[in-house]
Amino acid sequence: MLGNKAVNEKNHLEIAGCDVVLLADKLGTPLYVFDEALLRENMREYKKVFEERYPEVSIAFAGKAFLCSAMCRVLGQEGLWLDTVSGGEYYTALGSGFPMEQVLFHGNNKSPEEHSLVLKNGIGRWVIDSESELDLLIEEAQKYERGKLPVFFRITPGIDPHTHAFITTGKVDSKFGLPLMEGIALLVVQKALSCGYLDVKGIHCHIGSQIDTLEPFGKAIEVMVRFLAEVGEKTRCLLPELDLGGGLGVPYLDEDKGRFPSVESYAEIICGAVKENCQKYKVPLPHLFVEPGRSIGNTAGSTIYRVGTVKEIPGIKKYVAVDGGMADNPRPVLYDAKYQSLVGNRVLGGGKEKVSIVGKCCETGDVIIGDTELVPVMRGDVLVVEGTGAYNHSMASNYNMIPRPGVVFIREGKPVLVVRPESWYDLTRRDIIPDYLQEEGE
Ligand SMILES: Cc1ncc(COP(=O)(O)O)c(C=O)c1O
Repeated sequence: MLGNKAVNEKNHLEIAGCDVVLLADKLGTPLYVFDEALLRENMREYKKVFEERYPEVSIAFAGKAFLCSAMCRVLGQEGLWLDTVSGGEYYTALGSGFPMEQVLFHGNNKSPEEHSLVLKNGIGRWVIDSESELDLLIEEAQKYERGKLPVFFRITPGIDPHTHAFITTGKVDSKFGLPLMEGIALLVVQKALSCGYLDVKGIHCHIGSQIDTLEPFGKAIEVMVRFLAEVGEKTRCLLPELDLGGGLGVPYLDEDKGRFPSVESYAEIICGAVKENCQKYKVPLPHLFVEPGRSIGNTAGSTIYRVGTVKEIPGIKKYVAVDGGMADNPRPVLYDAKYQSLVGNRVLGGGKEKVSIVGKCCETGDVIIGDTELVPVMRGDVLVVEGTGAYNHSMASNYNMIPRPGVVFIREGKPVLVVRPESWYDLTRRDIIPDYLQEEGE
């Protein structure tokens, strides 16, 4: 099992002390369930292990992994920064009362509306992704009312983190960031430094996600610190901050538990490599930022479903269909991601059988777990899929006009609704029937 789970005397699964059968009965399914204490514990662990090893460090949660207003409040209380990548994420933080001077704003193609929203309401660090974005920003920053606009530059350090191609972001051939080749990044930074309207705080990289070895982080750090030194040498300006993005992988299966580095060993490598390279390239230690997403949210979240159709094709396969699927968890379809599950109302029991857990979407590929061993499952059972706290709620869609699930935090053993489940009404709320389609005489 992942996270803080237990089996109670009724043989029901409890998440953070809350019986999932009661949750399903009371709040309906599918439902995203977060252990709030574990979320906070993960945030605190990041702060602790980095602060023990490095003089100045900020932990910025990557909102793309999981964001809602209550999450922003928790992040604010725990003293984390927030990394946003769209006007919508930024707006969520703003509406929740999050301190906007602790928000980073990323994006490879920020829209004019996003520019004006962020410039109007203020930002901690604006992460410039390209020269064309810089050109726009130099114009706009002249009207920024809070002084010089604090910016980072996103650099592609040219490191392959050996993860899934769709979540590899730091190679030279990438839609994100500025390449170092032919002095491209250097010229852009020089331009920003000389314009007079930007407070160039530092550089940023993010090499990828779900990374299971620490070696690529060390390599990226060397490239980034070398670039800080080069900027210092060529411009006489030592940039004071370095943001290394996120990317630490997490186990989705019990059998993978030993395969991923701990947050502590990640911090050890990151802080050690920054110090070592700063010494080597003779630059002062920068203020460090890291942007973890998955490794804070994932094990703290599970999805609970209700089992519907159970269908056996003799000698071939037994399909267990649940009342959600790729609409609330597109990761198996997108990345061939693997998950594990439990029967929440009958956790322990002999006679396990091999089944495929599928969703209710009209796609043959809508498979949540291809092959798994479960206690015999029946219609009406509660099925719990573990490790869905990152990139599930945030990636959910209304495919097949399926309402998206709500989110509960379990706090001191009690469920607290933080995102209400969508209704069918929500699905047509934005629809417009234009005049020419209205029935005559209506
Ligand atoms: C810029 C940036 N920072 C941080 C993250 C978070 O990565 P992870 O969830 O793997 O920690 C991402 C994810 O893609 C990202 O693009």
